[in-house]
Amino acid sequence: MPGFRIRRASIRDLPALVHHRHAMLAEMAPATPRQLATMDRAYARFVRQEMKGRRMFCFLVETGEGEVAAGGAIWLRETPPRVNFRGGRIPYLMSLYTEPAYRGRGLATLIVKETMKWSRDRGYPWMLLHATAAGRGLYEKLGWEPTPEMRYRFTTAGR
Ligand SMILES: CC(C)(COP(=O)(O)OP(=O)(O)OC[C@H]1O[C@@H](n2cnc3c(N)ncnc32)[C@H](O)[C@@H]1OP(=O)(O)O)[C@@H](O)C(=O)NCCC(=O)NCCS
Repeated sequence: MPGFRIRRASIRDLPALVHHRHAMLAEMAPATPRQLATMDRAYARFVRQEMKGRRMFCFLVETGEGEVAAGGAIWLRETPPRVNFRGGRIPYLMSLYTEPAYRGRGLATLIVKETMKWSRDRGYPWMLLHATAAGRGLYEKLGWEPTPEMRYRFTTAGR
């Protein structure tokens, strides 16, 4: 993407990584500032722990001036055995977010492609994600297919 560069994030980028999840969730469903602040603190702890354990790898797209325009993360999620899969970690794509001023220029596509390359190069047999309505078209264009996952709610947590 001319004028932009993609790079791996480090723990120094934690504020940007938390901001991306915060902004993504705030756009997806109504949440109070207090709920989001609680989530921010928990997510910061989670990212620290998972990056340190090398189970989380994050990517940022920056403008030529070094402004972060978009980001996304891979989390290696433990998965039970299946046919032709003896069990282990599978890359889960999460917290994909493009700042509104930079949307429609292919930045999210760039991040998804990078995470797909990262995962393919390391021999993972598939990847997973939960799509928002805004993200679905992008993933389908890149060859992702819907899965038959279902959910039963005991509380309103995790909206
Ligand atoms: C979804 C999102 C990440 C797309 O970012 P982006 O950088 O604008 O995406 P791209 O420019 O790579 O667009 C790729 C495709 O996505 C689709 N798309 C992008 N924004 C869209 C929107 N707001 N509504 C519907 N489809 C959209 C289009 O099909 C687009 O294809 P096109 O190039 O033919 O127009 C961005 O809108 C966003 O951050 N939304 C809020 C958070 C979110 O929903 N994240 C996804 C979590 S699964």
